[in-house]
Amino acid sequence: ETDFSLRPRRLEEYIGQEKVKETISIFIQAARERGEVLDHVLLFGPPGLGKTTLANIIACEMGVSIRTTSGPAIERPGDLAAILTNLARGDVLFIDEVHRLSRTVEEVLYPAMEDYALDIVIGKGPGARSLRLDLPRFTLVGATTRAGLLTSPLRDRFGVISRLEYYRPEELVQVITRTAGILGVEITREGSLEIAGRSRGTPRVANRLLKRVRDYAQVRAGGVITLEVAAEALRFFEVDPLGLDNSDRNLLLTIIKKFEGGPVGLDTLAAATSEEADTLEDVYEPYLIQLGMLARTPRGRVATQLAYKHLGLESKPTPKQVN
Ligand code: ADE
Repeated sequence: ETDFSLRPRRLEEYIGQEKVKETISIFIQAARERGEVLDHVLLFGPPGLGKTTLANIIACEMGVSIRTTSGPAIERPGDLAAILTNLARGDVLFIDEVHRLSRTVEEVLYPAMEDYALDIVIGKGPGARSLRLDLPRFTLVGATTRAGLLTSPLRDRFGVISRLEYYRPEELVQVITRTAGILGVEITREGSLEIAGRSRGTPRVANRLLKRVRDYAQVRAGGVITLEVAAEALRFFEVDPLGLDNSDRNLLLTIIKKFEGGPVGLDTLAAATSEEADTLEDVYEPYLIQLGMLARTPRGRVATQLAYKHLGLESKPTPKQVN
């Protein structure tokens, strides 16, 4: 991940997600006071809202080390066994995209989470024996875009399940102001609000736009990010007032121009836009759905009236009546 130095390290520095922060701080304090290991935590929500940052903060607040990996990176049960046997008591194991663990790896994880044990099968066939190996107590922090992507046995083994929400513009202004301070760039409150409004409720996007606007301001406008400079830079980068970029607009336009506004199936849409279905579903769609420009229906994706309006297109033809 980029720019680790921009990430807050303590819960106190972490902006927004008030409910999640409060909840987690209670469990952290309770575990610390009892000298126990924190229960397993599942964080879910759209990309860029700070799941990785929170996992690191949890480790920091618990005063333990963190080992970071991801669902697809753990290919075989042995890979997971190697990681688990190298943890120290209380350590955080952070698994990003935890919904992408294979079934066989997931099955190794169940006893590890529940009993801090590893079941190893020695030999094959009728002579095979099973050996139970004790593991240090550890905290699994899992991250996923949607809790519903997890199998229920896995989901049930997390003691704490927290949902991250899109940030309000005022919270993004705080994130942008903090980052600008770290980067040493001068920005006015209006400049920061302008960037916040086009950041799709997402700190990762806000920080990325801030850096690009900083470059633009430096080269074209004397360095200070005012409202005018921010608006001009974002227009130049083709980020529209709602924060949609060319990829978002292309997705909506594809549904509208190639599929008469939909419904169109996810896989068809992926092929038509040269994107991965997972990327469409996890990265592009959530914000468009939140804005009310895209709808998921049982028969596929539909561009809404609002999408036509936003793109400056004539309104959607009313569907033919089917009896
Ligand atoms: N940078 C990115 N996300 C942040 C957050 N929630 N708080 C503070 N800084 C951040």
